[in-house]
Amino acid sequence: MKSFTVSRRSMLLASAASVAALGIDGAAQAPRPPKPQGDPQPGPPTPDQIRRLAWWRAARFGMFIHFGLYSVYGRQEWAMEKEAIPISEYQQLAKRFNPQPGAARAWAKLAKAAGMKYMVMTAKHHEGFCNFDTKLTDYSSMKQGPKRDLVREYVDAARAEGMRVGIYYSLMDWHHPDGAKCAIDEAARKRFVTYTHGLVRELLTNYGKIDVLWYDGSSPLNAEQWESERLNRMMFELQPDILVNNRNLLPGDFSTPEQRIVAAAHGAAWESCMTLNQSWGYDSADDEWKSSRTIVQNLISCARDGGNFLLNIGPKGDGSIPEETVRILTEVGRWLETNGDTVLKSDPCQPWRPSYAGFTRTGNTLFMHVYFWPGGDVSLSGLQAKVKSARLLKTGQPIQFTQDLYRVHLVGLPMEPPDFPATTIVIECDSVPMQNSDPELRLAKPRGGVGIEA
Ligand code: GLC
Repeated sequence: MKSFTVSRRSMLLASAASVAALGIDGAAQAPRPPKPQGDPQPGPPTPDQIRRLAWWRAARFGMFIHFGLYSVYGRQEWAMEKEAIPISEYQQLAKRFNPQPGAARAWAKLAKAAGMKYMVMTAKHHEGFCNFDTKLTDYSSMKQGPKRDLVREYVDAARAEGMRVGIYYSLMDWHHPDGAKCAIDEAARKRFVTYTHGLVRELLTNYGKIDVLWYDGSSPLNAEQWESERLNRMMFELQPDILVNNRNLLPGDFSTPEQRIVAAAHGAAWESCMTLNQSWGYDSADDEWKSSRTIVQNLISCARDGGNFLLNIGPKGDGSIPEETVRILTEVGRWLETNGDTVLKSDPCQPWRPSYAGFTRTGNTLFMHVYFWPGGDVSLSGLQAKVKSARLLKTGQPIQFTQDLYRVHLVGLPMEPPDFPATTIVIECDSVPMQNSDPELRLAKPRGGVGIEA
């Protein structure tokens, strides 16, 4: 391998040059595009969006799959950039990229077992390697590595398990010769946008019905420079029912809060995407796994606020799924077998206290999902609706309770949690369950002879 040493002087010169490029010392600035101001948010859904979003809102829970050359390297999908790996060195990973046949089928089976209803797989991540058959570059899984069309295998596998099919596509590209240059050179931008639109066209032409196009990585261009309006028009010509996210810098059909759960304003559709450990792409050293309880909690929080949950897996380079991933998703799936309808078919819900439980609702029925089982009794404060009955979902056991203005007190419960990783209590009410947790209530509360009555 060619090696070279970097003198202190050349390092200083290089950093002086980059400072100059930033215009910090007043040197002539290279033309730079305006920085994108964060992803735009979709507004209230239009009738056409309501129609296209119907299956997606009902699906609620999906699997995100980050898979590419970085899966072989095993240090997350940003390794190429974060470790400044030279392109010539990085692309050698393709030689070792040879996922087992049937790997995608195992992902889809796991998604189904976990109670998920759709999948979104990386067709091309920021590294630039295309996991599909394309006429536009040789940097693809068809021409290198496995010499197979991995998107085809994924699409077929997802459909075989009854999953809706989403495709992730990174606009940003660290490998393409124009991927960085496009920011400062108009001819390069034109070439790169033609390439980008061309790849999207292939993805939306060659694989039958695609349900979601999940853009990412809009750097270094803005919506106008990506020609995103034209891109979306082409997408809807090719796939009239498709859903598109907001990361090609147009509002799209749904917003994409990342690693956090934040409901969108105006009833707009939103999907929280999250990792299962701390990495999207496979990281052999990352053992920071979330528990199945945390996943159930997050799914409940999304459902409570009317959003979707897209949970990531990062298969290894051979396509196999890390053991912990299988264990966690299987536990979640088992819980959903009994509790699924209370989460996946619920309406937005207002109650939120106490902190050891989460809530979902269907009509007048409140589902209290207790994460940290306190023992023989469970309480709920400030419920405005009158409780008609309560029972444990897992066993059907009816629950005795008392209710006054301030508290519903559920008693006679088992000391050990009847379900894992959360126990659902079904609380039938006489109207839509709302909770009043207003601190003002304390003023009105009778003191029962303790201290001085107001
Ligand atoms: C972040 C990561 C990117 C990942 C994406 C998923 O933007 O940088 O690698 O694909 O999240 O939402």
